Amino acid sequence: MKTYTSRNGLGEYLSGLRGGNKTIGFVPTMGALHQGHLSLIAIAQQRCDVVACSIFVNPTQFNDPKDLEKYPRPIQSDIEKLEQAGCDILFNPEVNEMYAGNEQWHLDLGELEHLLEGKFRPGHYQGVTQVVYKLFDIVKPDMAFFGQKDYQQFLVIQKMADMLNLPVKLVMCPILREPDGLAMSSRNIHLSAEDRRRALVLSKTLNWVKENFNTASIDSLQQESAAMISAEPGVSLEYFEIADGRDLHPATADSRTIVALVAAKVGNTRLIDNEILSS
Ligand code: PAJ
Repeated sequence: MKTYTSRNGLGEYLSGLRGGNKTIGFVPTMGALHQGHLSLIAIAQQRCDVVACSIFVNPTQFNDPKDLEKYPRPIQSDIEKLEQAGCDILFNPEVNEMYAGNEQWHLDLGELEHLLEGKFRPGHYQGVTQVVYKLFDIVKPDMAFFGQKDYQQFLVIQKMADMLNLPVKLVMCPILREPDGLAMSSRNIHLSAEDRRRALVLSKTLNWVKENFNTASIDSLQQESAAMISAEPGVSLEYFEIADGRDLHPATADSRTIVALVAAKVGNTRLIDNEILSS
């Protein structure tokens, strides 16, 4: 695997590949890689000639400095995982390689930015779009692969790509779960054994909604789900929403794609999960 920490080095190498007519697949991450991340690499490998992964813990998307500080950074084991997965290129820049100073810029992402995650993490999607824009500009991928795990993030990045006419195809990849249903996440390592067990209420509730989707009204499913999660000790629900999969407004009879999305704190760890109910 070729590893770059500078944008110029990576840019030069990639332009050589592009000249040779290779298609470039890109998987941006913040590291602490798990099978979920590696599944994106595998999908990218099926669809593109060359796969680049980035590991960059992006400070501008963290609204809680403590969260940024304690974000896991096991770079050596991440490199081993990428080597084993057969990833071709790693981009692992320092903060000052990505940000010249205190950059202030704003993309009008509309309501999507303020709903659900946006409400609980103000400014988060400005930080996400900022870094993904910069990464796309450096890598210039033909295709970029993101997880359904961060459903709203996918919509936001798609919106940015549409607004700015970015020549990249975005691909949404399925959520990888632990055998007991917990969605894989870099944050799961912060869960104590007890919290780890309690966290299962999120995927169990999403499954329950999926199974009962055609048997009850959306309102009652939503209320009952929220009650099930709130009843779990140590779990503090932030939102449970059955939403239109295109704009994340509350789902209606006209919604073609419907998705249930949840965020909760389990102990001190904030987790998100979702399930597509109809598409
Ligand atoms: P990170 O949380 O490291 O996630 C990187 C990619 O892995 C995202 O597209 C995410 O949706 C996907 N992913 C995470 N858990 C997954 C799972 N269980 N199954 C499948 N895919 C999963 O998302 C980010 O980083 C950042 O916001 C980033 C886009 C890199 C910008 O900084």
